[in-house]
Amino acid sequence: MKKDIQVSYEYFKNSGELSDIEKTLFERAKQARENAYAPYSNFLVGCSILLENGEIFSGNNQENAAFPSGLCAERTAIFWVAANFPNEKIKKIFIVGGPKEFNAKNPPIPPCGACRQSLMEYETKQNENIDLYFSSMNDEVVKVNSIKDLLPFYFDATFL
Ligand code: THU
Repeated sequence: MKKDIQVSYEYFKNSGELSDIEKTLFERAKQARENAYAPYSNFLVGCSILLENGEIFSGNNQENAAFPSGLCAERTAIFWVAANFPNEKIKKIFIVGGPKEFNAKNPPIPPCGACRQSLMEYETKQNENIDLYFSSMNDEVVKVNSIKDLLPFYFDATFL
């Protein structure tokens, strides 16, 4: 029996199409990207997170001379938020990435598989969807309404 999974996403040609809070999150993610520590890949990623209480926190990728010891921007940001605001729901996550010397052709950068799994943990925990946006420095934005949309057949605590 063949079954299908359908994923919907929204595409914004430029950030002018975003709401005010989305624009703020985009700016905060871009600011965070500027402080990324990525001397080995020269690929800079920033991530901002909006909590239910209205606060916004951000993170960026942190690399290491022992390569696997580094961490992506999304996990740097969400682990800090989860450590400091364990009971606050996460409403939106905005990711901006691209090479240090980006050009207009760089596409929106989606989160890696490991980050999708980590983000999914908190969506499951709070039992409420998280809006996720990913973008390039050239102002195009993709939005999904749930981490699930990026991770069909996700593994979570219900299997344990
Ligand atoms: N990176 C992120 O920060 N987030 C992702 O989802 C993809 C990759 C970082 C990891 C590494 O520092 C650099 O980008 C190149 O892979």
